Amino acid sequence: MILDILEYPDSRLRKIAAPVAVVTADIRRLVRDMAQTMYAAPGIGLAATQVNVHKRIIVIDVSPTHDDLKVFINPELVFAEGESGYEEGCLSVPGYYDKVRRAGRITVRAQDERGEPFELTTDGMLAVCVQHEMDHLVGKVFVDYLSPLKRARLAAKARKKQRIAV
Ligand code: NI
Repeated sequence: MILDILEYPDSRLRKIAAPVAVVTADIRRLVRDMAQTMYAAPGIGLAATQVNVHKRIIVIDVSPTHDDLKVFINPELVFAEGESGYEEGCLSVPGYYDKVRRAGRITVRAQDERGEPFELTTDGMLAVCVQHEMDHLVGKVFVDYLSPLKRARLAAKARKKQRIAV
Protein backbone atom coordinates (compact mmCIF):
# COMPACT_ATOMS: atom_id res chain seq x y z
CA MET A 1 0.00 0.00 0.00
CA ILE A 2 1.32 3.42 -0.93
CA LEU A 3 1.20 5.80 2.02
CA ASP A 4 0.77 9.58 2.05
CA ILE A 5 3.99 11.51 2.63
CA LEU A 6 3.86 14.55 4.92
CA GLU A 7 5.25 17.73 3.41
CA TYR A 8 7.32 20.44 5.07
CA PRO A 9 6.39 22.54 7.03
CA ASP A 10 3.81 20.06 8.42
CA SER A 11 4.21 20.10 12.20
CA ARG A 12 3.86 16.31 12.37
CA LEU A 13 7.35 16.11 10.82
CA ARG A 14 8.55 17.50 14.18
CA LYS A 15 7.33 14.58 16.29
CA ILE A 16 9.88 12.36 18.04
CA ALA A 17 9.61 8.70 17.06
CA ALA A 18 9.38 6.05 19.75
CA PRO A 19 11.50 2.87 19.78
CA VAL A 20 9.95 -0.32 18.40
CA ALA A 21 9.63 -2.78 21.29
CA VAL A 22 8.90 -5.90 19.24
CA VAL A 23 9.09 -6.40 15.47
CA THR A 24 5.59 -7.75 14.88
CA ALA A 25 3.74 -8.67 11.68
CA ASP A 26 2.21 -5.17 11.77
CA ILE A 27 5.67 -3.61 11.81
CA ARG A 28 6.74 -5.82 8.87
CA ARG A 29 3.64 -4.72 6.95
CA LEU A 30 4.50 -1.09 7.68
CA VAL A 31 8.07 -1.71 6.45
CA ARG A 32 6.71 -3.18 3.20
CA ASP A 33 4.36 -0.22 2.72
CA MET A 34 7.18 2.23 3.45
CA ALA A 35 9.42 0.51 0.87
CA GLN A 36 6.64 0.54 -1.71
CA THR A 37 5.98 4.24 -0.99
CA MET A 38 9.69 5.08 -1.28
CA TYR A 39 10.11 3.23 -4.60
CA ALA A 40 6.93 4.73 -6.03
CA ALA A 41 7.83 8.33 -5.11
CA PRO A 42 10.62 7.66 -6.29
CA GLY A 43 13.12 8.17 -3.50
CA ILE A 44 16.18 6.52 -1.96
CA GLY A 45 15.13 6.74 1.68
CA LEU A 46 12.08 7.14 3.86
CA ALA A 47 11.54 7.47 7.60
CA ALA A 48 8.32 6.36 9.32
CA THR A 49 7.88 9.95 10.56
CA GLN A 50 7.29 11.02 6.95
CA VAL A 51 4.25 8.76 6.67
CA ASN A 52 2.97 9.98 10.04
CA VAL A 53 3.98 6.86 11.97
CA HIS A 54 6.14 7.91 14.89
CA LYS A 55 8.25 4.81 15.36
CA ARG A 56 12.00 4.43 14.88
CA ILE A 57 11.97 2.79 11.43
CA ILE A 58 13.72 3.79 8.22
CA VAL A 59 14.06 2.19 4.79
CA ILE A 60 16.81 2.99 2.31
CA ASP A 61 17.84 1.79 -1.13
CA VAL A 62 20.68 3.71 -2.77
CA SER A 63 21.39 1.01 -5.38
CA PRO A 64 21.03 2.10 -9.02
CA THR A 65 18.96 -1.05 -9.68
CA HIS A 66 16.51 -0.42 -6.77
CA ASP A 67 16.84 -3.97 -5.49
CA ASP A 68 18.93 -3.55 -2.34
CA LEU A 69 16.44 -2.55 0.34
CA LYS A 70 17.96 -1.81 3.73
CA VAL A 71 15.68 -1.71 6.76
CA PHE A 72 16.79 -0.08 10.00
CA ILE A 73 14.59 -0.53 13.06
CA ASN A 74 15.70 1.35 16.19
CA PRO A 75 18.82 2.70 14.45
CA GLU A 76 21.56 4.19 16.63
CA LEU A 77 24.76 5.82 15.41
CA VAL A 78 27.62 4.26 17.33
CA PHE A 79 30.42 5.92 15.40
CA ALA A 80 30.81 8.87 13.05
CA GLU A 81 33.90 10.51 11.59
CA GLY A 82 35.08 12.72 8.78
CA GLU A 83 33.04 14.98 6.60
CA SER A 84 30.80 14.60 3.64
CA GLY A 85 28.54 16.87 1.68
CA TYR A 86 26.00 15.94 -0.91
CA GLU A 87 23.23 17.85 -2.53
CA GLU A 88 20.34 16.42 -0.53
CA GLY A 89 16.69 16.30 -1.31
CA CYS A 90 13.78 14.95 0.69
CA LEU A 91 10.43 13.46 -0.27
CA SER A 92 8.88 15.80 2.32
CA VAL A 93 10.44 18.87 0.66
CA PRO A 94 9.66 18.24 -3.03
CA GLY A 95 11.75 20.05 -5.60
CA TYR A 96 14.35 21.45 -3.20
CA TYR A 97 17.99 20.34 -3.06
CA ASP A 98 20.88 21.73 -1.10
CA LYS A 99 24.22 20.72 0.27
CA VAL A 100 24.32 19.66 3.92
CA ARG A 101 27.41 18.89 5.99
CA ARG A 102 27.37 15.34 7.35
CA ALA A 103 29.80 12.81 8.80
CA GLY A 104 31.65 10.96 6.04
CA ARG A 105 31.83 7.54 7.63
CA ILE A 106 29.44 6.03 10.14
CA THR A 107 28.64 2.86 12.01
CA VAL A 108 24.96 2.30 12.65
CA ARG A 109 23.46 -0.37 14.89
CA ALA A 110 19.87 -1.44 14.23
CA GLN A 111 17.49 -4.37 13.82
CA ASP A 112 16.33 -5.68 10.46
CA GLU A 113 12.73 -6.52 9.48
CA ARG A 114 13.01 -9.86 11.30
CA GLY A 115 14.14 -8.13 14.48
CA GLU A 116 17.71 -9.39 14.06
CA PRO A 117 20.33 -6.94 15.34
CA PHE A 118 23.08 -5.90 12.92
CA GLU A 119 25.80 -3.33 12.60
CA LEU A 120 26.77 -1.56 9.39
CA THR A 121 29.82 0.60 8.72
CA THR A 122 29.50 2.64 5.58
CA ASP A 123 30.41 5.85 3.80
CA GLY A 124 29.37 7.80 0.72
CA MET A 125 25.75 8.26 -0.20
CA LEU A 126 24.46 5.50 2.08
CA ALA A 127 26.12 7.09 5.14
CA VAL A 128 24.56 10.46 4.26
CA CYS A 129 21.17 8.87 3.66
CA VAL A 130 21.21 7.07 7.05
CA GLN A 131 21.99 10.37 8.80
CA HIS A 132 19.26 12.20 6.85
CA GLU A 133 16.62 9.57 7.68
CA MET A 134 17.68 9.31 11.34
CA ASP A 135 17.19 13.07 11.64
CA HIS A 136 13.54 12.60 10.63
CA LEU A 137 13.07 10.27 13.62
CA VAL A 138 13.96 13.11 15.97
CA GLY A 139 11.79 15.65 14.16
CA LYS A 140 14.53 17.21 12.07
CA VAL A 141 14.30 18.02 8.36
CA PHE A 142 17.42 18.67 6.25
CA VAL A 143 16.36 22.24 5.54
CA ASP A 144 16.86 22.97 9.26
CA TYR A 145 20.59 23.07 8.44
CA LEU A 146 20.16 25.84 5.87
CA SER A 147 20.83 29.52 6.55
CA PRO A 148 17.87 31.44 8.06
CA LEU A 149 17.50 33.37 4.79
CA LYS A 150 17.23 30.22 2.65
CA ARG A 151 14.81 28.71 5.16
CA ALA A 152 12.59 31.78 5.14
CA ARG A 153 12.43 31.70 1.34
CA LEU A 154 11.57 28.03 1.38
CA ALA A 155 8.84 28.50 4.00
CA ALA A 156 7.31 31.34 1.95
CA LYS A 157 7.31 29.11 -1.13
CA ALA A 158 5.70 26.25 0.81
CA ARG A 159 2.98 28.55 2.19
CA LYS A 160 2.23 29.86 -1.30
CA LYS A 161 1.95 26.31 -2.57
CA GLN A 162 -0.50 25.44 0.21
CA ARG A 163 -2.64 28.48 -0.62
CA ILE A 164 -3.15 27.41 -4.22
CA ALA A 165 -3.59 23.73 -3.44
CA VAL A 166 -7.03 22.49 -4.41
NI1 NI B 1 13.88 13.24 4.05
